Amino acid sequence: MTAPLRIAIAGLGTVGGGVIRALELRGVELAARAGRPLEIVAVSARDKSKSRAADVSKFVWHSEAEKLASSNVDVVVELIGGEEGAARALVEAALRAGKHVVTGNKALLARHGTALAALAEKQGRALKFEAAVAGGIPIVKALRESLVAYGVDALRGILNGTCNYILTQMEATGRPFTDVLKDAQALGYAEADPTLDVGGGDTAHKLALLAAVAFGMPPDLEHVALEGIQHITTDDIRFAREFGFRIKLLGIARKTAQGIDQRVEPAMVRAGTPLADVDGAFNAVMADAGPAGHFFFEGWGAGAEPTASAVIADLVDIARGNVGPVFGLPAESLKPLPQAGAGTAPSAYYLRFEVLDLPGVLAEIAGHLAESRVSIESMIQRGRAPGEPVSIVMITHETPRASVERALKVIARSDKVRARPCMIPMEAA
Ligand SMILES: NC(=O)c1ccc[n+]([C@@H]2O[C@H](COP(=O)([O-])OP(=O)(O)OC[C@H]3O[C@@H](n4cnc5c(N)ncnc54)[C@H](OP(=O)(O)O)[C@@H]3O)[C@@H](O)[C@H]2O)c1
Repeated sequence: MTAPLRIAIAGLGTVGGGVIRALELRGVELAARAGRPLEIVAVSARDKSKSRAADVSKFVWHSEAEKLASSNVDVVVELIGGEEGAARALVEAALRAGKHVVTGNKALLARHGTALAALAEKQGRALKFEAAVAGGIPIVKALRESLVAYGVDALRGILNGTCNYILTQMEATGRPFTDVLKDAQALGYAEADPTLDVGGGDTAHKLALLAAVAFGMPPDLEHVALEGIQHITTDDIRFAREFGFRIKLLGIARKTAQGIDQRVEPAMVRAGTPLADVDGAFNAVMADAGPAGHFFFEGWGAGAEPTASAVIADLVDIARGNVGPVFGLPAESLKPLPQAGAGTAPSAYYLRFEVLDLPGVLAEIAGHLAESRVSIESMIQRGRAPGEPVSIVMITHETPRASVERALKVIARSDKVRARPCMIPMEAA
């Protein structure tokens, strides 16, 4: 057996702890698969006195993560997190010092992935990030190395377990978003500041990375249209069910005649299809690989063991000499692709209006929709006490997004409309 792969780990929290435990538990089998032992030699975290989920006393301790870059190791594993600060400084320093890097940091790569890929490739080193997208699901490798014969035309993913847990609980219990979010925080499924998750930003980071690998372009966070789940009500979820759909926060990246369309938004997914059936904190990705067909990946998108599984897969690849370009194509040939403007891809839409139960209100809404050439396929109206707001819910025929948005802007100005109209695309899954 050849010399061990010498590893430094920065960040000893959920994922770092999981990686150390798994390497201890499965060291012999992993060495056999990797062709050489995987040996942790140095670690770093903020607080040396903190009790850890794994025994780190036998490793060299560095209080400053960046010091790992100049230590005697082959690979630096960055599990600190954050798009700037210690994580970015360490990854750059490690690559400059000729170390391979493995990271779970989607925020860092979504922002700085192109420059870091160029640096890694200039140095002839790996920069691997399976753990950054969908936890344990091996989707990065699948897109980078497996689904390459015909390329990938579209990706649809449930990439944030917190959002999927909240939407699943809202449906199961009929409780509103704010209550279910509080439960998710108490259970540790949601951060104290949940903005990055529920606002869709975390999904956007992951989507930008998947789109880069699938389409051979630089990660392009700026062109990901973004909407979170904060405005989804239990009424929306109930109405979706009546129409035969479930609401999921999807990250969607697809090639269209007008360019690449990248968006994160709540979408109506037909009940009984694979994406609609993904419940709780699970993640999933549906890849449309042209003539090769559709492929569906599902599994745990977070947690110590699933994420450690992805980190270790990258380490085994590196141990075996599978370095390769970071995003599948050499960094210098990742070319920005034309982006489809909002409203180019037509879709059917679910629309909900909270209106005062007054004569003429339905005719007024229908009139504005007709002016923007939005035609209605079906409608539900639920009455309450006279004078109180009621919900009018419609499903449109396929319509350009811009037409629906134009009509909703006018309708929102009506004094009979109580709240911002809700608009959710119906996704063909
Ligand atoms: N958790 C998951 O399920 C999951 C899934 C996929 C990807 N990821 C990604 O994996 C990375 C790590 O996530 P995590 O959940 O393991 O985070 P975590 O539990 O919060 O752990 C972060 C670790 O980083 C250390 N750290 C923070 N600032 C540091 C600094 N300046 N120098 C050295 N160490 C520092 C902390 O040290 P102390 O312990 O001393 O405070 C802690 O050990 C993130 O990029 C995250 O997005 C996580």
